[in-house]
Amino acid sequence: MNKVPTPKSFRVKSFGCQMNVYDGERMAELLATQGMEAAPEGEDADLVVLNTCHIREKAAEKVYSDIGRIVKDSDGKAPLIAVAGCVAQAEGDEIMRRARDVRMVVGPQAYHRLPDMIARASAGERVTDTDMPAEAKFGALPARRKRAPSAFLTVQEGCDKFCTYCVVPYTRGAEISRPFADLLDEAKRLVDQGAREITLLGQNVNAWDGEDGRGRAIGLDGLIRELAALPDLARIRYTTSHPNDMTDALIAAHGEVDKLMPYLHLPVQAGSDPILAAMNRSHSAESYLRVIERVRAARPDIAISGDFIVGFPGESEADFAATLALVDEVRYAAAFSFKYSPRPGTPAATMEGQVPVDVMDDRLQRLQAAITRDSHAFNAASVGRTCDVLVERTGRREGQWLGKTPWLQSAHFTASEGAADHAVGDIVRVELVEAGPNSLAARALT
Ligand code: 5AD
Ligand code: SF4
Repeated sequence: MNKVPTPKSFRVKSFGCQMNVYDGERMAELLATQGMEAAPEGEDADLVVLNTCHIREKAAEKVYSDIGRIVKDSDGKAPLIAVAGCVAQAEGDEIMRRARDVRMVVGPQAYHRLPDMIARASAGERVTDTDMPAEAKFGALPARRKRAPSAFLTVQEGCDKFCTYCVVPYTRGAEISRPFADLLDEAKRLVDQGAREITLLGQNVNAWDGEDGRGRAIGLDGLIRELAALPDLARIRYTTSHPNDMTDALIAAHGEVDKLMPYLHLPVQAGSDPILAAMNRSHSAESYLRVIERVRAARPDIAISGDFIVGFPGESEADFAATLALVDEVRYAAAFSFKYSPRPGTPAATMEGQVPVDVMDDRLQRLQAAITRDSHAFNAASVGRTCDVLVERTGRREGQWLGKTPWLQSAHFTASEGAADHAVGDIVRVELVEAGPNSLAARALT
């Protein structure tokens, strides 16, 4: 390919999960240390990194249409295009074949090597790096620079659970836990730069384990307790958890650590035991419900969220009815639901009994109606509560502030006449006064 000048500006576009958002931020920080600048919104960049998601079909197709759009909009001055993330890992060679404009393919475990790849790509090479080195990429990355009231911190990556529908064990590799000392350092840095809330991330975040400063074995609950000791950190969250790794100690932490927010994202995927078995989930509907019961006993006001897949191969109407029954029982504050998407190379993709798409559409609609009903009920029940809101940004209206309640609801309020004004990063005491479809109206009490 042609040689091109070394890029001066870049844009990182992240799709998919929060771990990808975190990776995108770290790639941007890495590129900034190389003397490149983030291109302002709406302006062309010399380098575009598409940080992709492979979890469902549409996500992968989107990458190809995005590449096409970038080339079409570039008036002949096409930027260097790098495809990163999980599609890069799973389909790197195919991307290089199908999309001639792509110069770099970089997997999720290799992005610390981007600077070298960019140098080679500028010199005219097409470069692929989808190694999953044992060497930790995190150690090779520059220190965090992010300034925001709410920050992500990846503590664990990869998955050893091999649910039969899921690509993650193949794209992100085996489960690894980042060392405690590194996490404490990164958390302190984030807090020094203004983070009031940290969300600990991992594909199986509650499988995190490590050793504390004194060499004692600790789990995620121990990590949370240690981070809670940072004076300026006000809120801790974690996601995503597997039901089988909800230990007694982690559940107890929900009742004991004030800074641990009352919110738990605990995917169940389905409510029918034969389907859960075919998914290789290694929990039953009943054992999942028992976990929820224990968590609620520790923290009665906790908001529960989850993930669902409808139309897994072999799912009958009776199986689906069991999912609806489980939803009725849990009363989710929020939940995400998806149509099953066969992922190449996963066991479920070749299972018998693939469900027709119109059946999936119908089930998805019914499931989403049930979830919306419960989430509206949850929000309506919050009206009248007094709570803290972490201010994340200004609203569209003059004097309006937007933020999150402890239960991860969006809330908006306007500073009252004569009261002290607020700032991003403030934690403001409010009364929740009205529940809208997407957010709650609040009244500042301070
Ligand atoms: N098809 C549909 N949804 C999926 N998920 C994971 N793999 C698939 C698939 N093949 C969903 C699960 C998971 C969430 C991140 O994405 O619900 O929890
Ligand atoms: Fe998507 Fe999973 Fe990769 Fe996240 S880890 S980007 S959800 S495929």
